[in-house]
Amino acid sequence: MSFDLRTRLEARRHEHLYRQRPLLQTPQGPQVVVDGKPLLAFCNNDYMGLANHPEVIAAWQAGAERWGVGGGASHLVIGHSTPHHELEEALADLTGRPRALLFSNGYMANLGTVTALVGQGDTVLEDRLNHASLLDAGLLSGARFSRYRHNEVASLESRLEKAVGDTLVVTDGVFSMDGDVADLPALSRAARAKGAWLMVDDAHGFGPLGANGAGLVEHFGLSMEDVPVLIGTLGKSFGTSGAFVAGSEELIETLIQFARPYIYTTSQPPALACATLKSLELLRAGHWRREHLANLIRQFRQGAEQLGLQLMDSFTPIQPILIGDAGRALRLSQLLRERGVLVTAIRPPTVPVGSARLRVTLSAAHTEAQVQLLLNALEQCYPLLDAIETKEPDHA
Ligand SMILES: Cc1ncc(COP(=O)(O)O)c(C=O)c1O
Repeated sequence: MSFDLRTRLEARRHEHLYRQRPLLQTPQGPQVVVDGKPLLAFCNNDYMGLANHPEVIAAWQAGAERWGVGGGASHLVIGHSTPHHELEEALADLTGRPRALLFSNGYMANLGTVTALVGQGDTVLEDRLNHASLLDAGLLSGARFSRYRHNEVASLESRLEKAVGDTLVVTDGVFSMDGDVADLPALSRAARAKGAWLMVDDAHGFGPLGANGAGLVEHFGLSMEDVPVLIGTLGKSFGTSGAFVAGSEELIETLIQFARPYIYTTSQPPALACATLKSLELLRAGHWRREHLANLIRQFRQGAEQLGLQLMDSFTPIQPILIGDAGRALRLSQLLRERGVLVTAIRPPTVPVGSARLRVTLSAAHTEAQVQLLLNALEQCYPLLDAIETKEPDHA
């Protein structure tokens, strides 16, 4: 007996599902060098353009001078330092919740939160299109796990009828691969009617949405009773790294006691928390960034619709172009790349079979002229799709 990895890898390649990592040779931003080639990129999650912002870099440098570079221990031992604590207070303030808890990344925040809140004898109900980290968390929790139809409250309600024990309803805020938003007011009504809790992972809503950038919950004006568990990540609009859970005093104390991915890991570097404190300040005050981004989104949608591209129901910076077949999506991505534009093809299993897409993301760091260049490239490449033979993909 041996592991037949070669066959697995070959099958993946054959199905146009093989993944490769483009090598980024510049800081994150609209203009990058990837695998030695200068490209105009429309695929990062740095929606506010803060990942390479000079003030955030300076805050990180000053933080390293003051606090050193390593967290040194887990939070419960001796790794919870002043910048972590200040960041938690600032995140609680941003979200209007009594407390927030800092995690090393969003995957761990989701895993830690769901598994601390529900287990055997309980129920977790998730949107079918939730981010993988939420689905993995639900499965690992040991609670009864069921997925309701995407954003369909009736489908959730029928599952709530059969729920047992403590019941957690879990959804993305802005859906990461589609860009549409969860119907949080309706989901929260359905959950509350059955005494269930709603947990929202708004990794992609913080920054672009809400008057202060506090995301979809702020956009809808929902209270802590509506959304008792609110997750945000710091590696997207905040431009740094990490994640947080915001909620009641009891929720946060429960996570500190029981969330294993919080307890058994070294705290993030304190200097990183210093950088995030600065980016939080910029994000909050960055009304012009949100307005500029909204204009770019309008410009892109209008232009893409004129080209006859199939867009999704999204008013957020995530503007996927639906292609369907994984091979065709790869080909379009490759054609764009040959013209100096980088948009990654997203294929199963990240998205359902038959719904491969080019996930265009826009950032406040883009200019109107750059969005026009993207539209021009799409105008040239899209009609070529059918004309070209499928050839072996050379990047993912
Ligand atoms: C909706 C959502 N939740 C969680 C995560 C994971 O966050 P992190 O990258 O900080 O692990 C991501 C993507 O990375 C995401 O898109």
